[in-house]
Amino acid sequence: MHLDEYAGLTVEELSSIVEEFKRSKNAVVLGHNYQVPEIQVLADYLGDSLKLAQLAVETDAELIVLCGVRFMAESAAILNPDKKVIISSLEAGCPMADMATPQQVEAERRKHPGALVVSYVNTSAEVKAVSDVCCTSSNAVEVVQAVDADEIIFVPDRNLGAYVASKTSKRIILWEGHCYVHSMFGPEDIQLARGEHPGVRIVVHPECPPDVINEADFVTSTGGMMKLAAEHDELIVGTEIGLVERMNREYPDRNFYPLSAFAVCRNMKMTDLPRLAFALEHEQYVVEVPEETRVRAQRALVKMLEMSPGP
Ligand code: 13P
Ligand code: SF4
Repeated sequence: MHLDEYAGLTVEELSSIVEEFKRSKNAVVLGHNYQVPEIQVLADYLGDSLKLAQLAVETDAELIVLCGVRFMAESAAILNPDKKVIISSLEAGCPMADMATPQQVEAERRKHPGALVVSYVNTSAEVKAVSDVCCTSSNAVEVVQAVDADEIIFVPDRNLGAYVASKTSKRIILWEGHCYVHSMFGPEDIQLARGEHPGVRIVVHPECPPDVINEADFVTSTGGMMKLAAEHDELIVGTEIGLVERMNREYPDRNFYPLSAFAVCRNMKMTDLPRLAFALEHEQYVVEVPEETRVRAQRALVKMLEMSPGP
C-alpha cells in the first residue's frame, strides 16, 4: 500500500496492521519516550536512549524498527551489523546531533592532547567513531568519572556537559551544542509551576539550562523520570511532553504536569502510525553505517554499555 492509503485508515485499522506485520516479519518496535501516544502503545518496548541501545543488543528479532530519531536507529544499526534496522522517516534527525562534526572533534582533540572525548549518544555515527566513549543522560556522570583522564571533551550538549561538570572534579571542556526543546525552559517556568502546584516536586532533564537545573528538585533522564513517576503521586516534569503523556497513561490515578506544554520535539513527532505501517510493509528506510565507521563507533558504544549493563 502507499503512504496516502495508510493515512486514510483509522487508528484501530492501522494498529492491527502494525501488529500483523510485527508478527509475520519477526519485527520488534523500539520506541523512545517522546513518541506520540499511538506509537507508544504499539511499541514492544519504550525507553530512554540508554534502554533503547541495551534492548537493541539483546533482541533476537530479525527486523528492528526504531521509533525515535536517526541517531537512535544508527546506534541500533552500529550494535547489530547482522540485523535490518529501519526508521520510518529519514528526516527525523536530532538537530543537536548535527552540532558536532568529526572534523571539529578532531580539531578540539588536537588542542587538548591529554583529553579524552566523551560523546553523548545524540551524535552522528561519524562523531561516535572519533570518540573514546559514548554516554547518555542516564550515565553521563558515571562514564565521565570512569574514563581514564582528568580532562574530558564533552560533545555536543553544553547543558549536559555543565551538569556533569558540577558533579565531578574533572575538567570538562564544553561544546556549544544544545537541544532546542530543553533550551526553551527558563527559571520563570519553575516559578510559575511552583505557584500553580504548591508543594509538588519538579524533575527536569539534564539538557535544560543550568539556571533551570539549579531550581529543580530532581535532574534525570527520561528513564529516571519514569522511575520517579512510580514513586510520586504528583510531579512537575521538565522535558518533552511525550514523556508526560506516558506517565499520565501508565498512572491514571496520579497527576503529572508538564513544566511547559510547548516542549514538543518536532523531530520525534515525525513518526506516526501511517508511516510506521508503511515502513514495516516495505522494510524501509534501512539505516546503514559504512563498515569502517561502524566498527569504530561500536567500540565507543560498547565501552559505554559495559559501564551500564542491560535492563
Ligand atoms: P533520554 O535518553 O533521557 O531519553 O534523552 C534523549 C533525548 O533526546 C532527550 O532530548
Ligand atoms: Fe534532539 Fe532535543 Fe529532540 Fe531530544 S528532544 S531528539 S535532544 S532535539
